[in-house]
Amino acid sequence: CAVVAPRRDLAHLNVVITAGPTREAIDPVRYISNHSSGKMGFALADAFAERGAKVTLIAGPVNLPTPRNVTRIDVVSAQQMYQQAMQSAVENHIFIGCAAVADYRLEQIATQKIKKTADNDELTLKLVKNPDIITNVAQLREKRPFVVGFAAETQNVAEYAKDKLQRKNLDMICANDVSDSALGFNSEHNALQLFWQNGAESLPQDTKRNLSAQLVEKIIARYNQSSV
Ligand code: CTP
Ligand code: CA
Repeated sequence: CAVVAPRRDLAHLNVVITAGPTREAIDPVRYISNHSSGKMGFALADAFAERGAKVTLIAGPVNLPTPRNVTRIDVVSAQQMYQQAMQSAVENHIFIGCAAVADYRLEQIATQKIKKTADNDELTLKLVKNPDIITNVAQLREKRPFVVGFAAETQNVAEYAKDKLQRKNLDMICANDVSDSALGFNSEHNALQLFWQNGAESLPQDTKRNLSAQLVEKIIARYNQSSV
């Protein structure tokens, strides 16, 4: 069968993408995390790289191969992802926050395994807020990239996504409904509702691969408008 080579028309663009979950240690053997598979972020990195963009992928702990022609930086915790993201943000034209960053981490990570006690049926863990990576990127005064966020919601998808677009001062947000278990998180499929400051568009259900190719188009269209 004939394979049409994708256009390598984005060779002038540097794109950084965060993907996957973060993992917040409780003690040397336990952690808090979430169900993010990283598939959407990895598919998007692949789609940008296929178009010739120079892609940096900051990945939390996921079980996925590195897409071709993508520079991968592995991190574990939100604080590590924050450090890598802030460093990369100023070197890239576009920042895409696909990661499901843990909102909270342990105030104190126990240095030894926490032992189950005979006399207490409760264990209290104290959590503190992690830095909001994408908000900090969007607040950059110098070398601020074009900033695209994701929002995984279980209800009021459009309303919550538009609120995040404003609150985090993003250029664009891609929202998906994760209450439908056929979509989002570990699924091969997704559907997205895109919002930007003066518009909206829906990308109907498709494979994460096809959706990513379409999303690259949409992001580039908005990016080109913003940088004229
Ligand atoms: N995000 C981030 N750093 C965080 C939390 C979120 O960069 N500490 C980014 C995500 O990568 C995503 C966007 O912010 O692009 C929205 O994430 P989400 O978890 O939906 O937003 P929150 O503000 O954490 O709101 P919620 O209470 O719904 O979790
Ligand atoms: Ca969150």
